[in-house]
Amino acid sequence: MGGQTGNRSFAAELSKGGFGDLPLLQAGGVGGDPQGLRDALDMGYAGCQLGTRFLATHEARVTDSYKRAIVDASADDIVWTNKLAGTNSSVIRTAQVERGGLQVNALVAFLLQNRWTKLLTRTLMLSRAMETYKRAAFEEDYEVWQAGRGVSSIHAVESCEQVLSRFGEVARA
Ligand SMILES: Cc1cc2nc3c(=O)[nH]c(=O)nc-3n(C[C@H](O)[C@H](O)[C@H](O)COP(=O)(O)O)c2cc1C
Repeated sequence: MGGQTGNRSFAAELSKGGFGDLPLLQAGGVGGDPQGLRDALDMGYAGCQLGTRFLATHEARVTDSYKRAIVDASADDIVWTNKLAGTNSSVIRTAQVERGGLQVNALVAFLLQNRWTKLLTRTLMLSRAMETYKRAAFEEDYEVWQAGRGVSSIHAVESCEQVLSRFGEVARA
């Protein structure tokens, strides 16, 4: 259902009855199209979580190349890799990502599965991933960029105010 690597249908999840009286949020996948929020609200969701859309804003403290990559990418450019954190993350397929490969090698896969080694392996991978995330955010030519499939509907770098007012209009309609 959105989020980092969700791939279940929003409607199907809702039809399971949700969690009693708790409000449900559609956790990602909307991208930049406010109609996605409208559809979710009409289905019965209380709201949507937006992540990728806000990376391509003037206010986001990431490189211009990251913002441009989000604007230029389409859903087909988004791939899963477990090489960052040991579990799958969605990233834009770039030459650098291609070179590094998308999946950990057999030894690391084993260490990630084994009950005695998986916690330590994930912790080590995550601490290394923090460095990767920092470089991706601040180094113009470091092209390991996390983004969701909603990139297809993000067509420009805008201000947060522009994004929010567009979504707000649709939510209030
Ligand atoms: C840079 C970035 C890092 C993220 N890191 C995580 C993460 O560590 N764990 C997770 O569950 N989701 C992560 N997400 C996914 C967000 O939860 C997701 O973006 C959010 O639900 C909104 O979806 P959207 O990006 O399709 O708008 C990340 C998203 C971005 C853009």
